[in-house]
Amino acid sequence: MSLVKANNESIQRAAEIIKHGGLVAFPTETVYGLGADGLNPIAVAKIFEVKKRPSFNPLILHIADKGSLKKFSPTKSEKIDLLIEKFWPGPLTLVLPKSEIVPDIVTSGNQTVAVRMPNHPVALQLIKASGTPIAAPSANRFGHLSPTEAKHVEKYLGDKVDIILDGGKSSVGVESTIIQFYENEFYLLRPGGLSKEEIENEIGKIKTGKIDSHKPSSPGQLSFHYSPNTPLKFFNKKLLDKDKKIGALFFKENKIDFTFAEVKLLSVTGDLREAAANLFSHLHELEKNNLDLILVEPVEEKGLGRAIMDRLKKASNKLE
Ligand code: TXA
Ligand code: MG
Repeated sequence: MSLVKANNESIQRAAEIIKHGGLVAFPTETVYGLGADGLNPIAVAKIFEVKKRPSFNPLILHIADKGSLKKFSPTKSEKIDLLIEKFWPGPLTLVLPKSEIVPDIVTSGNQTVAVRMPNHPVALQLIKASGTPIAAPSANRFGHLSPTEAKHVEKYLGDKVDIILDGGKSSVGVESTIIQFYENEFYLLRPGGLSKEEIENEIGKIKTGKIDSHKPSSPGQLSFHYSPNTPLKFFNKKLLDKDKKIGALFFKENKIDFTFAEVKLLSVTGDLREAAANLFSHLHELEKNNLDLILVEPVEEKGLGRAIMDRLKKASNKLE
């Protein structure tokens, strides 16, 4: 690890680290972020590993120019254009339907993606130099306070990141405001550095209640955390019914003598980071095939294995 003053040279070095799948802590105007290449699933998995979160949480993609939003979401709306015009760069995060290129691990399997253009010269220069959107949560360990100075990051995560760029104290000091656009309405998901009133001055009333994800027009699209529609269970010999179309999700190898309709491996080398990076996309793939049942192998509950198991347990409970 190295904590370095942000300047042209260190930002360039940090950008190379991002391009090579490493982790960079960097300043934004809200709080410091723990960043990785947002289009590289393995790099994104490292974020969860370092944060020691016991579960996955969708991440914000940070971009450096307003125009690149369209690469990550196909949604067009005049109100969104207004918001971007007025508040970007700044402490406003937009949750929108995601485009294909956004990896599932960034959104934790959701069909929506959170995007923000931060208002900090170091962040913007880093994103531009990296040539990729930077996925970043706040640079604290799970359950700790968000860092507003480089030394906070050093204290929490000093030995876990490849470089910490010191860009001084975050001027806003609280996280961005998050709003979701859904069926032509805006919903406040998290209050933050931009007030609701300021947003409403631009686009009119926004909602604060829960989004009704059970409307028939949007089956499953909005569920905050992904869970497959196909029943999912942990392996159990009794469930191996040959009259059923059963898909299997193993950790590194197929250990079961049964004709599965489809088999997916999370990581042939047995690497939990790779397994995490593949988890949501493999579940999506399995789900596409109209299976009667998905059977999954438990993984060891250490490191990223805890978050993987948390997700799988939730998915299996759901269908009891
Ligand atoms: O100011 C900020 O937003 C800072 C700086 C680094 O940009 N970032 C930040 O990230 O606070 P994080 O990961 O600590 O919080 C992001 C929040 C999480 O609560 C997450 O659940 C929510 O954004 N979020 C991300 N993607 C989402 C999505 N697709 N749908 C709903 N919520 C989402
Ligand atoms: Mg946070």
